[in-house]
Amino acid sequence: MAFQNFVSKCAFAFKPFIRQHNLLPFSKAFTSDCKEPGDDSQKHSTINKVFRHCYPEVLEGAINHQILSELNASMIYLSMFCYYGRTDIALPGCQAFFRAMYNEEQTHAFSLIDYQLMRGGLVTLYPVTVPEDMNWTDITVALGVAIELEKRVKEKLEEVVQLAECHKDLQLADFITSKFLKEQNDSICEMGRLLTKAKRLVDTGGVGRHLFDREIFEYMRDKNPEIKFPYRNI
Ligand SMILES: [Fe+2]
Repeated sequence: MAFQNFVSKCAFAFKPFIRQHNLLPFSKAFTSDCKEPGDDSQKHSTINKVFRHCYPEVLEGAINHQILSELNASMIYLSMFCYYGRTDIALPGCQAFFRAMYNEEQTHAFSLIDYQLMRGGLVTLYPVTVPEDMNWTDITVALGVAIELEKRVKEKLEEVVQLAECHKDLQLADFITSKFLKEQNDSICEMGRLLTKAKRLVDTGGVGRHLFDREIFEYMRDKNPEIKFPYRNI
């Protein structure tokens, strides 16, 4: 419940900025079709109907909402990455970890976009939620939020699978199950283990926080050697 409150508080964080800069009408969504945004009644062009095969709009909508969930998750990880990378925070291990999580969520969003297009569906882009409070002082809170986030994304993926099975779209069900659900379980397990370590070390104070960060930095360096950081391990 606390996380839901947090997410809902974040919902309109960038609304004034977006309006001020005229980036996007906030109450509407962009669509890859040429119709007016939000005009669902005329959403599908004749051309698209030709290429769609057994792909009901309800599944197309579910994929679009899943794309939004992945992008929203990526923005929360981006805010954590930015926090731990601050010069006055300087926790490169946490910075590396949340950078990798941001990349992962962005990759998930693009996989879903590619799938939507492959099925002849229309991608609808909704406004992304940005965390209002970007203060992640307590690492255990940040990891706790991340775990809840991954659990919510997993539940939404399972709903998509159920919906696909309801509509006998076995290929979509298989795509989500094989490509996404295992990764979700892996992420929840990985973050759970990190949270356990963080609680054990952070409780001991500043040295513990430093040790935890050093440990997570080495873990990320082994796991993702391709990630580059301007200040390495300082
Ligand atoms: Fe994801």
